[in-house]
Parts: sequence; structure tokens; C-alpha cells
Amino acid sequence: MRTCTKTVRVRAAGTPEPTGGTALANVESLEAIRKPARFSTGGPAPARPGNRPSPAGQQSQTPAAPRVAVIGLGYWGPNLVRNFHALLGENLRCCCDLQPDRGRSVIRGYPGLRFTEDIQAVLTDDDIDAVAIATPVDTHYALARAALEAGKSVLIEKPMCSSVEQARELVELAERRGRVLMVDHTFVYNPAVRRIRQIIEEGQLGDLLFIDSIRINLGLFQRDVNVVWDLAPHDLSIVLYLVGRPPRSLSAFGAAHGGNDLESIAYLNLDFGDGLIANFHVNWLSPVKIRHTVVGGRRRSLIYNDLDPVEKVKVYDSGIEVRQDDLEGRRRQLIEYRTGDIWVPHIPQAEPLRIMAAHFIECVQNGTRPLTDGRAGLEVVRILEAAQHSIKAQGGRITL
Ligand SMILES: NC(=O)c1ccc[n+]([C@@H]2O[C@H](COP(=O)([O-])OP(=O)(O)OC[C@H]3O[C@@H](n4cnc5c(N)ncnc54)[C@H](O)[C@@H]3O)[C@@H](O)[C@H]2O)c1
Repeated sequence: MRTCTKTVRVRAAGTPEPTGGTALANVESLEAIRKPARFSTGGPAPARPGNRPSPAGQQSQTPAAPRVAVIGLGYWGPNLVRNFHALLGENLRCCCDLQPDRGRSVIRGYPGLRFTEDIQAVLTDDDIDAVAIATPVDTHYALARAALEAGKSVLIEKPMCSSVEQARELVELAERRGRVLMVDHTFVYNPAVRRIRQIIEEGQLGDLLFIDSIRINLGLFQRDVNVVWDLAPHDLSIVLYLVGRPPRSLSAFGAAHGGNDLESIAYLNLDFGDGLIANFHVNWLSPVKIRHTVVGGRRRSLIYNDLDPVEKVKVYDSGIEVRQDDLEGRRRQLIEYRTGDIWVPHIPQAEPLRIMAAHFIECVQNGTRPLTDGRAGLEVVRILEAAQHSIKAQGGRITL
């Protein structure tokens, strides 16, 4: 026998949820992002930038705010400049790019901000404690290594670098030097993603069964990485953050359509070995932009639409029950379907990149380990590298 009770109601954003969930703490508060990274292990705490003399020549009691430089002013770097300037003011000391016209146009909006084409001028400047690297992926490793060797703390854009070997080396170097190494996995600082993790941790979805994500749009083709290395770091960092454990194996397919051998469409399948599977579709050729993630649990499921300005997350109180309570149920494998309310949790409005930048500043200032530290970056690169091997092997399953 099948039962189906269909009472679908959509709750307005911001109204209290029926199942006793708590409102997310103010995400602007850094307390909300202070939980330790789930994949970080051991290693000494990073050193602080130190107390600098106050104008009166006295040592201040609290560590001084770090002095930061942004390297790379293409598509993404100006967003880092905007956020670090909003948080640090004149402590955003300078920015750097190989192309002077990019520098000139960026610093026009920030009186007092210096620009240089010379990376050595940044690395040898004792007036800079930390650098944020927003250059193409194939330059991340060399720039980050040089910055760490020069005693700077480092924020690297996703993906951390081009290989597991490079990522390991950077993690070890940062630990040896006692410097902060953080990767900008921006979605981990997204209030919607944080709210989803809270919903999962509260047990509202029950055991997780599947995660299905579509991240597709037209362009932007990258010259140094394929669509997996460009877009999948977002999905991988979200999933690792949500489920708190790495996958056991993966399989990936892809095809290149951009006149080179870099895949522009790919499908990844991750198996967590305990009933949970995750599928990602990443694509640069779609005429429409879609950012959908479905998280399916035994009790409830949710849909996260990052492009919805109001109702980013919807929780569906539907699921199945496999009836095994009596002999008849076991013999006929009866499935009962349950469909109930749909509710829309309140998501605080805050720019994820602002929260990420504030977290980096706080970690450098206090010598604390970032939520998305080098080890979290390494974990994502490990999966990306395995996906690359699987694509080349026509979807061959790789054990991680
Ligand atoms: N977190 C996110 O959501 C997000 C979004 C977009 C891009 N990104 C990442 O940001 C990084 C940059 O991407 P982009 O799209 O801005 O690239 P881009 O090509 O538009 O810009 C890169 C800039 O770096 C400069 N550059 C290159 N080598 C340099 C060097 N050695 N020293 C100084 N400057 C150098 C280039 O001149 C260029 O201006 C990538 O890692 C990308 O994955 C992250």
C-alpha cells in the first residue's frame, strides 16, 4: 500500500521555521566562522604579525591589523581589493600586476593605494605582512612559495595550485615558517552554505543519501585550466564542508570543445562509501547560468539555488519509508512516500568574500588556523587531480 499526504506550503523567507531550527548567528560576527577546519591536522599555530609600536612609541596590547598586498588585478583581484580596503583601510598597502593598465584603473578608486608591476618590491617590503594571490592557477605555487619564503602569510585563490605535490609543499612550508596559509574557498563563507551545514548538523535531513549539483554558464574559458579545475573547487569545498569527510572514490567524464585539450564540460561522481554519493555537472557552454545543489536526506531534502536573491534554500519535508515492520512489508518491499511542507530558512545577507577576507585578517592578526587552510586546499586539489586522471581514463574509477 502506498500513502501520500500532500500539503505543500511555501513559507516566506525570514519567518520562523516549524521544526525548531535556530536562526544563524550574525555571520558578520567572526565567531560564526571560527570553527576549526575539519581536515586540518596538527602543525604549529601560525605566528602573528607582532605588535607594532603605536604612534606614541608604546607597544599596543592587541596584535596590530596586518598590512596586506593583493597580487593579480584581472577579473577577480579587484573584488579582493574592494573587500580588503573596506576592512583594512590604509593597511591594504599595495597591489601588484604584470599589466600596468590594470593597476592604474584599480588604484584610481582608492586614493593612497600603491601599485607596482614588480613582485619583488612586494616580497621584500617589510611593511607588508600578508599577500592575497589572485593570478592564474599555474602561477599560484611559485608566487605562494616565494611569499612564504619571504616571511609573508598567504591567501591563495581557488584552486590552491596545480598539483598535490605543489599543495603539500606549500602546506609544509607554511607550517615550517609559522605563517598563515589560507585558500579562498569562497562558498564555505557563504551564509546559505553555512545555514545548510547547520540544518544537516541539527539532523533535520537525516542521513545524507545524495548531493547533486549543477554549475553551468557560458564561459569564461580559462587558458591554463579546464572546467573541472575552474568550477568544481566550489562544489568540492561545499561538499567537504557540509559532510565533513572525504570521498572514498570518484569517476569523471569530460569533453574539450575550446580548440585545445582543456575540457569545457565535465561530470564528476563521488562515492563516500557509506551510502552517500555526490554528482557534479560543470560546464562552460551552457547558454543559461544555473547554480543548483540538491542535498537529499532520509528525512528531508533541500535545494540550494545560489542565484535566487530571496529564497536561496528550500527544505522539502518529503522522503520515503521502506516498510519492513511486518512480514508482508518485508516480502513485498513496500515503499511509503511522504510529502509535506516546504519551508524557506532565513539566510542573513552578507557578502561571502567580505566574510572570507575578514577571516583571513583575523587569522593573520591572532595567529589562528583558518577554516579553509592549506590542508583544506590540498584536499580539494587531491580530488581535482584524481578527477583529471579519471577523465583521461574515460571515467575509470579512482580510489582516493
Ligand atoms: N573565489 C572565486 O569565486 C573566484 C572567482 C573567479 C576567479 N577566481 C580565481 O582567481 C584567480 C584569478 O582569476 P581571474 O579570472 O581574475 O584571472 P585573470 O586572468 O582575469 O587575472 C589574472 C591577473 O593576474 C596577473 N598576473 C599573472 N601573473 C602575474 C604575476 N606573476 N604577478 C602579478 N600579476 C600577475 C595578470 O596580468 C592578470 O591581470 C584564479 O585562481 C581563479 O580561479 C576565484
